[in-house]
Amino acid sequence: MKRIGILTSGGDAPAMNAAIRAVARKALSAGLEAYGINYGFAGLVAGDIHKFAAADLDDSIDEGGTLLYSARYPEFAQVEGQLKGIEQLKKFGIDALVVIGGDGSYHGALRLTEHGYNTIGLPGTIDNDIPYTDFTIGFDTALNTAVEAIDKIRDTAKSHQRVFAVQVMGREAADIALWAGVATGADAIVAPGHDYDVKEIAEKLKRNRVDGKDYGIIVIAEGDANSDAAPEFLEKLKQYGDFDARAVVLGHVQRGGRPTARDRVLASKMGAYAVELLLEGKGGLAVGILDNKVQAHDITDLFNAKHQPDSSLYELNQDLSFK
Ligand code: F6P
Repeated sequence: MKRIGILTSGGDAPAMNAAIRAVARKALSAGLEAYGINYGFAGLVAGDIHKFAAADLDDSIDEGGTLLYSARYPEFAQVEGQLKGIEQLKKFGIDALVVIGGDGSYHGALRLTEHGYNTIGLPGTIDNDIPYTDFTIGFDTALNTAVEAIDKIRDTAKSHQRVFAVQVMGREAADIALWAGVATGADAIVAPGHDYDVKEIAEKLKRNRVDGKDYGIIVIAEGDANSDAAPEFLEKLKQYGDFDARAVVLGHVQRGGRPTARDRVLASKMGAYAVELLLEGKGGLAVGILDNKVQAHDITDLFNAKHQPDSSLYELNQDLSFK
């Protein structure tokens, strides 16, 4: 193996650049060449590929987004698309790849391995929704962004005695909502997989008022990528009381920004490990961190598993915010 290709695919996530840097630098220090592939699988098919020099990656560790750009490219599910990608790999002499992205990206990684190009997947998504890893690259930064925003919203909530329903990202996964809810001491978390009773939440907010807390924060998971989850929740809440309430959809602000130290270190560890696996001649594997140990699982195992958010956080929040 002489040349490793790197691409990012799906939604961008903070510290993807730290992961790219780690893969490229580890490859260079092992005497290999590293090639960046722009625009994910679309760029692979189009041959948008360039050689990395160590200096190219000097400034990347603290930058959000992905310097390799990203794209969603469902065409790579078809053999035709895959063969076009392989033509480009042959042209550039790339023998193995690291793909950084969400679960959709892992399908492409597995197909390339089946075609004889060992490929390792790194979990790059703010959603934290990948099985066999406790944390994904970008989750910690997105969570901290959400927490910082909710802390600010609390200032207005207090000043105006308002209830805010703050909608956080996560597609089908509730991780950002669960962690941000506990971290901000939310009055309630509304998330898929956890039954809630709007009337009960309304009663609690009213009891809080009597007890002297005249504002409220409800953290809402977008759930099934519903962009109106927070306003819809407030419509229901208002049926049970006279609340001065506002919905805030945090949206893509959670995807950007300087990665936290935790994300940078996670991305660095995972990127370097991916190259070690390729050097051992392995492919078709997804890197994860479990109990603080970086490890790899067959990508096929991931397809048969479902990510389980830490539901104990929901119970914890119920206990701590109970009135
Ligand atoms: O995969 C990350 C994510 O941010 C989800 O939480 C969200 O539902 C989705 O991407 C939005 O993606 P986009 O607007 O880029 O299609």
